[in-house]
Amino acid sequence: MSAIEPGSEDHKHYFCQQFLDTHQVFDPETLPWPELTEEELARLRAVPFWQEVYHTERRAGAIVDAFTPQISDPVVREAVRLQGYEEARHAELIRVMIERYGLDARKQPIERFPADLETAFIDFGFGECLDAFLGFGAFKSARQSQFLPEAMFEIFDVLMFEETRHIVFFINYMAWREKRRGLGRARRSAKSFRFYMRALGRLLGMVRRGQQPNDGHDFAVTQTNLFLDGFSFRGFVEDCYRENARRMTAFDPALMQPRLLPGIADLALRGLRLWDRRRTKAG
Ligand SMILES: [Fe+2]
Ligand SMILES: [Fe+2]
Repeated sequence: MSAIEPGSEDHKHYFCQQFLDTHQVFDPETLPWPELTEEELARLRAVPFWQEVYHTERRAGAIVDAFTPQISDPVVREAVRLQGYEEARHAELIRVMIERYGLDARKQPIERFPADLETAFIDFGFGECLDAFLGFGAFKSARQSQFLPEAMFEIFDVLMFEETRHIVFFINYMAWREKRRGLGRARRSAKSFRFYMRALGRLLGMVRRGQQPNDGHDFAVTQTNLFLDGFSFRGFVEDCYRENARRMTAFDPALMQPRLLPGIADLALRGLRLWDRRRTKAG
């Protein structure tokens, strides 16, 4: 952040106002949903995670809504309230898609939240940062492979933009919150790292659960191959890193942006490049 001191009142007004100003008005029902061919429909239906996505968005809306009234600062409260509205609209968007294309995903009961709603909100925020960063790379490969028609990706792009906006807001919110509580930079980074590890643990838990045999929801081998054909870990990390940088250019450079995950990805990529160079030399 250049001129605005993180954690200051100016900072608070700035990131909250930015968030309100960049809100987009749309109704999920009237988005330009494309007609899909039988083959495209089959592919869309074979994606095994619609239920998870639907539930995650509904849960997101519920956590943010529950936490909103507890925020004492009226400016921050208004911004978080808007995020809650947007999360609920994401769930609505997924519901419209499920119904329109006859996808196999149901509404699941939302689990009880812990008594400490602020920690639940922070856990959710770091989870969004991790999901968005990995999602950037996955979205790019899926789009490039033309897994679905471009019109579909344009709709998902609306969602991706909003999630990116949420993580930018969250990073600024956290910096503001921690600064007010007197946490210096080093302790803030250590705390972020700890929360990211928790988010990673939850994500891995979800992946593990997804791999267990379930009631016919397994991703067909052919579909997996479609995604994983020519998959390279390094290519994926590169995509995440580049797409993160590209998507961040849509935001005011005066706002703080997520740094930790792009930083780790950058370090990993440098390491891999060095490793490659050594190997070619040795060979
Ligand atoms: Fe969302
Ligand atoms: Fe979000």
